[in-house]
Amino acid sequence: MSDAIIVGIDIGTTKVCTLVARVEDNGRIRVLGVGIEPSQGIRKGSVVDLGAASQAIAHSIDKAERTSGLEITSALVSLAGSHVSGINSRGVVGISRQVVDDADVLRAMEAARAVAIPHNREVIHVIQRGFTVDGQDGIRMPIGMHGYRMEVEAHIITAAAATVENLRQVVGASGVQVTQFVLNPLASAEVALTDTEREMGVVVCDIGGGTSDMAIFIEGDVWHTMVLAVGGNHVTGDIAHGLRLPFSQAEELKLLHGQCLTSEVGEGETFPVRAFGEEEPVNVSRMELAHIIEARVEEIFSLMLQEIKRSGYDGLLPAGMVLTGGTSQLPGIRKLASEVLGLPVRLAQPENLRGMVDQLKSPAFSTSVGLIQWALLMSEVDPSVAARPIQVPQMKGLNMDKVREFLKRMLP
Ligand SMILES: Nc1ncnc2c1ncn2[C@@H]1O[C@H](COP(=O)(O)OP(=O)(O)OP(=O)(O)O)[C@@H](O)[C@H]1O
Ligand SMILES: [Mg+2]
Repeated sequence: MSDAIIVGIDIGTTKVCTLVARVEDNGRIRVLGVGIEPSQGIRKGSVVDLGAASQAIAHSIDKAERTSGLEITSALVSLAGSHVSGINSRGVVGISRQVVDDADVLRAMEAARAVAIPHNREVIHVIQRGFTVDGQDGIRMPIGMHGYRMEVEAHIITAAAATVENLRQVVGASGVQVTQFVLNPLASAEVALTDTEREMGVVVCDIGGGTSDMAIFIEGDVWHTMVLAVGGNHVTGDIAHGLRLPFSQAEELKLLHGQCLTSEVGEGETFPVRAFGEEEPVNVSRMELAHIIEARVEEIFSLMLQEIKRSGYDGLLPAGMVLTGGTSQLPGIRKLASEVLGLPVRLAQPENLRGMVDQLKSPAFSTSVGLIQWALLMSEVDPSVAARPIQVPQMKGLNMDKVREFLKRMLP
């Protein structure tokens, strides 16, 4: 699929990022256009102001169109928020010709998907977690196997239909059709995780401004996803309250002097701050700031630990946690996370990109770049994820390896 153009729009709490990218012959991604715009009208992954959100998204799309010189008509869009939930389901089918083929796998996935989903929920992803053929379980890829009866264990991710429809509407206002919604942590995982980590068992965590998005990968597949409505904005909010500052000034202080570990701060370190109701700037100790940040970040990781334990997979994560998202840039966060979780923790950000990538080499853009990588995987089976005006080249017959890799991960 050379020359296919892919567009991803990451609608975050703090920023909207539209990327236009081309997939080169060697499978690498070249970024052709970038549109980063402060987010408006979006809170914790949901639209709270249609007009403001539409406008921020329109600006972001416009910038990406101008930098790339391409017209954007369709895009993959990130999805997050506590309205997203996952359920497990099972699909059973008879194997048509006693040898499993692609159609059998698709039918099994369809059967798993046919669980009763309330009408106010929309199915976002159907993820397979393993097949059973004639009673033998734990099969990763059943195609070509002999048998009479196949079952698939699936994880179905659904979202509140109204919230999804609102997002479709704010993107649609710019004349852009949403080809697919991709759950935030799944997009970030494409950037953050290595294959070895996925095989061993790992949790990827994207801490943004308003949400912390997590996905657990075991034996190469997604087993569980969680979205917590906490993020860097809560840290900033605490600083604003604690030091009696406007939010914008608290944010500035966090970026300039922030530290998650009080043990890393010297007693005498101070910086001047002009608080509410003060005529003159007063000196604030950096220790006080670190105390505020440490307390909140510790709480965020305790919540994550609770969620991981609730999933029941806490014992299956030898590769620990891979942290990404804007808030993962807080100094000391890796160590604090590791202490609270009792797991190894590593930081990740987009690497190996080409083209207009200066701004993108930051963990804040893992979801944005991950959307493109996700689409790359998808485009092998479904070329409609591409954007105009570049013609999507004729599929030279389906590349079955890619189709299988795709099926291995999930279906839309
Ligand atoms: N250098 C930094 N140090 C600490 N925090 C930072 C830094 N840079 C950005 N942040 C924080 O990262 C957060 C934004 O992260 P990100 O861009 O990943 O969020 P988002 O994708 O817009 O939001 P979400 O994913 O929650 O909807 C903000 O809270 C910001 O304060
Ligand atoms: Mg984000």
